[in-house]
Amino acid sequence: MATKVAIIYYSMTGTIDTMARRLAATAEEQGAEVRLLAVGREDAAGAEGSTDRPQEPTADDMEWADVVLFGSPSRYGNVAGRLKVFIDSLGGLWAKGLLANKVYAGFTASQTLHGGQEAVLLSLYTTIHHFGGIVVTPGYTDGSKFVDGNPYGVGHVTGGGNDAPVDDVTNGALDHMVTRAISVSRKLTA
Ligand SMILES: Cc1cc2nc3c(=O)[nH]c(=O)nc-3n(C[C@H](O)[C@H](O)[C@H](O)COP(=O)(O)O)c2cc1C
Repeated sequence: MATKVAIIYYSMTGTIDTMARRLAATAEEQGAEVRLLAVGREDAAGAEGSTDRPQEPTADDMEWADVVLFGSPSRYGNVAGRLKVFIDSLGGLWAKGLLANKVYAGFTASQTLHGGQEAVLLSLYTTIHHFGGIVVTPGYTDGSKFVDGNPYGVGHVTGGGNDAPVDDVTNGALDHMVTRAISVSRKLTA
């Protein structure tokens, strides 16, 4: 059976949205079934006039997924409030144990190099520990991790104009992270 991957994110200016779409494309190439889901329609990237704006995530998407990849920009070094509101709405599923035993990982972006990427990911993973989720970080399990340098997940620096494009280094790190998450999930569900 195909691995079910939910990519759930918030993006205001499009960086996390671009990263999420790369994860989705790579997961689909590997035969996964993918749901691309974005919170915060009102002010988020692509909200105005977009024909391919992803759906808002629901609790059903969380229950459905084998792998959940959460994406959030750094907001003063923390998870964006709109994504947190969605996560905080999952108490019913949590109480039934339905968030446990899935594979989780995270991706982020910040304007500056030390803009809180590791803090965002570690903060997200605190919540995953409370779910009983299985955090599958990239670590340094591939040579590419010595290039992008983030063992906690994937992070992109958007730079002074907040518009540095998602480049080959970030795309390589995204491909590695989603490939590893799917591979671990397949072993768990075998
Ligand atoms: C309220 C707010 C707080 C932010 N805090 C930080 C920060 O502490 N450090 C940083 O480098 N960037 C910070 N940023 C910049 C965002 O992280 C950056 O624009 C974002 O990663 C781009 O992602 P997006 O294009 O998907 O929205 C902040 C942006 C906003 C709006």
